[in-house]
Amino acid sequence: MSKFWSEIVHLTDPYVPGEQPKQQNIIKLNTNENPYPPSPKVLAALREGANEYLRLYPSPTVDELLQAAAKQFAVSPDQVFVGNGSDEVLAFAFLAFFTKGEVIRFPDITYSFYSVYAKLYGLEYEEVPLLPDFTIPVEQFFDSEGGVIFPNPNAPTGVYLPLAAVEEVLVHNPNKVVIIDEAYIDFGGESAIRLINQYDNLLVIQTLSKSRSLAGLRIGFAFGNKELIEGLNRIKNSFNSYTIDRLAIIGAVAALEDTVYFAETREKIICSREKVAAQLQLLGFTILESKANFLFIKHNLLPAEVLYTKLKEKGIFVRYFNKPRICEYIRLTIGNEEEMDRFIHEVKVILHT
Ligand SMILES: Cc1ncc(COP(=O)(O)O)c(C=O)c1O
Repeated sequence: MSKFWSEIVHLTDPYVPGEQPKQQNIIKLNTNENPYPPSPKVLAALREGANEYLRLYPSPTVDELLQAAAKQFAVSPDQVFVGNGSDEVLAFAFLAFFTKGEVIRFPDITYSFYSVYAKLYGLEYEEVPLLPDFTIPVEQFFDSEGGVIFPNPNAPTGVYLPLAAVEEVLVHNPNKVVIIDEAYIDFGGESAIRLINQYDNLLVIQTLSKSRSLAGLRIGFAFGNKELIEGLNRIKNSFNSYTIDRLAIIGAVAALEDTVYFAETREKIICSREKVAAQLQLLGFTILESKANFLFIKHNLLPAEVLYTKLKEKGIFVRYFNKPRICEYIRLTIGNEEEMDRFIHEVKVILHT
């Protein structure tokens, strides 16, 4: 606390990201990163891009990247916004589309950054309880006063809401923006991007951090009609003209173009997820059906916090949320095959000691 802090610093309740441990030889299954490296084409492009032009500012309009994203997602470049990770896109979207005094809605169990942004901007929000099976009660999101946001699949549960249900939320909020945060959509869900021409209130947010193995590069996208995109650009250009650096632009274009590598790594993760879920079920775990690159699991006898601590002692980091309704669960990011084998082995050891 400092006497120099502005009122807004006092109001903030900053997000706490998962641990980024410094030790070697740990198995990191706590922040939903991709276990596979970025495409070799991305790494080659980045090496080539590390050249004398770094003395120049990057493009403030990132046209080349907008073109690549538009081609990849079958939209037009003026329907795309690029940010420094989807967290930044979310931060701009809250400011661009939600208004003080109008209550916005998101699920009670969801990505914890939403309440952080709401508090930062002084927005009122209502946390709509998920149903007991952790699915989204769609009707509770109809006719919202200030707008709606939720991830699909949801985090940290991994539970997916079919596109027809997303569409119902859009239809029942014709005058408010509905933001669908699709950070994990590539691991088995169907994207709402194809609905942006039909619904002018829809903003879809995606990221290269998860399915393209580029959490370290910081690239996120928003897709929506061009007036929504213009709103985001107005906010961005009121903060910083150059949110995307030269190397990030180069790497992101290469990642979007390497569709073969993307499809391969995504399939490997989906296969591992299904295999691990089956193994865990045999060990007495309850597993929510996930369409993400993580599983939300609880053991019928072993408390989640004990499991989390014992795994950590063995150098395996998973995420535990000490919060009502979900404190019986741990969230397990899907790692590579060796990591998952080691995880299953250590869980068996913990269960039998
Ligand atoms: C639901 C959800 N949205 C957005 C993000 C942010 O991703 P990034 O800023 O890396 O694009 C995350 C990261 O874990 C997430 O879980």
